[in-house]
Amino acid sequence: MSKILVAFATKNGSTEEVARAIAETLRRDGCVVDVRRARDVRQAVAGWDLVVLGAPIYSGRWHRDAHRFLKRHRDDFEVVPVAVFAMGPRSGDEEGWQRSRAQLDRALAKRGLLAYVAVAVFGGVDPSKQQHGERRDLRDWEAIRAWATGLPAFARPPG
Ligand SMILES: Cc1cc2nc3c(=O)[nH]c(=O)nc-3n(C[C@H](O)[C@H](O)[C@H](O)COP(=O)(O)O)c2cc1C
Repeated sequence: MSKILVAFATKNGSTEEVARAIAETLRRDGCVVDVRRARDVRQAVAGWDLVVLGAPIYSGRWHRDAHRFLKRHRDDFEVVPVAVFAMGPRSGDEEGWQRSRAQLDRALAKRGLLAYVAVAVFGGVDPSKQQHGERRDLRDWEAIRAWATGLPAFARPPG
């Protein structure tokens, strides 16, 4: 049974909801899962067999708690596989997706030689209702759950 940590950063809550959906899928698939705010994880992450880290992009930058998390646990990631996702575009066009992916890639490049077993961008959510009461939400829950379903294959073998 794999032990998995799902760590997240958020400003307006949508990333937390995605983190919890990922955790739910992993549990359904038989994993033991902890969900934590990235900034609250102070102990070594070497006790988990896989770490999943998710955070939103704001103004071109991946949330700073995600950067700090990767820095703080850098040594553990030599033995613990890490998968990452970003919450990104609020416009559903191809250009928006590419821009968000490029922003995430730039953020990861800053962290140097860490290898990620999986990298994803999921559609973002407007922080508050627009004039006509609609809150644009580009999250594709099926795609999010499908991504989560593939993650246990990357976990460190138990023992
Ligand atoms: C002011 C603002 C700036 C944003 N800038 C970007 C951006 O540069 N790139 C991007 O991909 N998404 C951007 N987004 C979209 C957010 O990543 C998206 O709203 C996400 O769902 C927010 O996550 P949270 O609810 O967990 O805070 C921006 C959103 C806001 C409100």
